[in-house]
Amino acid sequence: MTKDLAAAVNRRRTFAIISHPDAGKTTITEQMLLFGGIIRNAGTVKARKTGKYATSDWMDIEKKRGISVTSSVMQFEYQGKRVNILDTPGHQDFSEDTYRTLMAVDSAVMVIDSARGIEPQTIKLFKVVSQRGIPIFTFMNKLDRDGRDPLDLIAELEDVLGIEGVAMNWPIGMGQSLKGLYDLQHNRVELYHKNDQDRFVDLDAAGQLPESEPLSQDPLYQKTLEDIELVKEAGNQFDLQKVLAGKQTPVFFGSALTNFGVETFLDSFVKMAPAPSSHLVNGDQELSPEDPEFSGFVFKIQANMNPRHRDRIAFVRIGSGEFNKGLDVHLARTGQIVRLNNATEFMSSKRVQVSDAVAGDIVGLYDTGNFQIGDSIYAGKDEIVYPPLPQFTPELFMQVSAKNVMKQKSFHKGMTQLVQEGAIQLYRNYSTNDYILGAVGQLQFEVFSYRMKNEYNSEVEMQSLGSRVARWIDPDQLDPKMASSRNLLVKDQAGEPLFLFENAFAERWFKDKYPDVKLTSRL
Ligand code: G4P
Repeated sequence: MTKDLAAAVNRRRTFAIISHPDAGKTTITEQMLLFGGIIRNAGTVKARKTGKYATSDWMDIEKKRGISVTSSVMQFEYQGKRVNILDTPGHQDFSEDTYRTLMAVDSAVMVIDSARGIEPQTIKLFKVVSQRGIPIFTFMNKLDRDGRDPLDLIAELEDVLGIEGVAMNWPIGMGQSLKGLYDLQHNRVELYHKNDQDRFVDLDAAGQLPESEPLSQDPLYQKTLEDIELVKEAGNQFDLQKVLAGKQTPVFFGSALTNFGVETFLDSFVKMAPAPSSHLVNGDQELSPEDPEFSGFVFKIQANMNPRHRDRIAFVRIGSGEFNKGLDVHLARTGQIVRLNNATEFMSSKRVQVSDAVAGDIVGLYDTGNFQIGDSIYAGKDEIVYPPLPQFTPELFMQVSAKNVMKQKSFHKGMTQLVQEGAIQLYRNYSTNDYILGAVGQLQFEVFSYRMKNEYNSEVEMQSLGSRVARWIDPDQLDPKMASSRNLLVKDQAGEPLFLFENAFAERWFKDKYPDVKLTSRL
């Protein structure tokens, strides 16, 4: 049994795709699902993409999606591996959930638009992934369009993100003149616009195309050879240990839209990406994923937007052991025992009851209010507590109050529950005690207001404080006189004081004025 469990765990590959909106995350996900045999036609995932809808339509989207679990985790078999792709909502859906999802994966794929290079949302998501020290694989997308020089794109990884990039393949031409990919890893050229069967041409021992291949005479191919010469001499050397430690990222070029280079990427990815690894639990204990006792942690809770169905789904990353239906688990936070009768695992097209979920997989538990984000659950006798999920620094802030002052009770109840769920962050004005909400994405405020009205019968009034830079201050150094309208002083849920600076300029001004005061940010 243990041997079976080890084998099952070792073939799991659980990852998320990080990118800036429009870099091609949906398109590449879709191609992967096609290779995984989960969907037959391109367009299936695309149709779900909420970013295409206006914000006001989101309710409708949730209604259509039901509780919208199917797009949160996509699972398929590929080359003997069980692949789990966790969705990281972008566009208007961007929220703390996106960040927390990155706590539940073993590696990440970073998709970059080769014409735009590294964009702001990629930087934010990269930081979170990089803190965890997990491997990151890069796909430079949209090669069928004119983009930036490949050497430039690789240098930018180091300059902007501070990670070594090492090319696994190299474009031959680009945009209209894209001819193929020189595949350094497999010593072959992958031709653009060729049938599946004959698109690969092997290179000779010197790394040259045979003369019979017309491309060998093309100046673009000669240019690629020169680039490769340069990359081999001056570029980073591939080092799997560095990749696994998140210090180096293998870079693959391609075009998701024309399905060029995606299969090569996926093949290499499943070979190199790590299986689930151990977690540090109970402070400093190493817990192997192959430990037979089931345990896991809740990284996301999704509420049903339909008030007639008040169930929620708690997403659990299994950290050790195997999940079985009807399992009794301990909820570490309360000591309570919960029977896990109603759970789902995820296929992209249908929800199925869990049959064989092991460490590395995600299960969705129907929840009537037992679970909170960050909760640890375990089935054995010994307590297992996973480390708390990191707190992320919100960027958008709103002052909020109950529209009807007579309804303070439901206002407080709703707010407490939604904050507990992790849907939004709550702060209080340091001097007036007014409520201030913080979020990573604008949509979170709309969801909050909608749910307050529909689930708690409490209409709210919100006044935007705009985008702010949140910085915590050591309480011993705090003097309330430091606060002004440009640096609003508030306290967080734990009572810790922080300033909400109007902008980076206001923060710099403050630092100049109080050079001895230490300001810190969360992730
Ligand atoms: P996202 O999930 O990262 O936000 O990006 P998505 O895949 O939706 O892609 C964003 C846009 O970029 C889409 O165009 C998509 O077709 C296009 N795209 C993705 N990969 C490639 C590629 O390799 N080459 C080219 N040329 N385009 C690519 P759109 O016009 O916004 O959507 P649609 O109207 O084409 O569906």
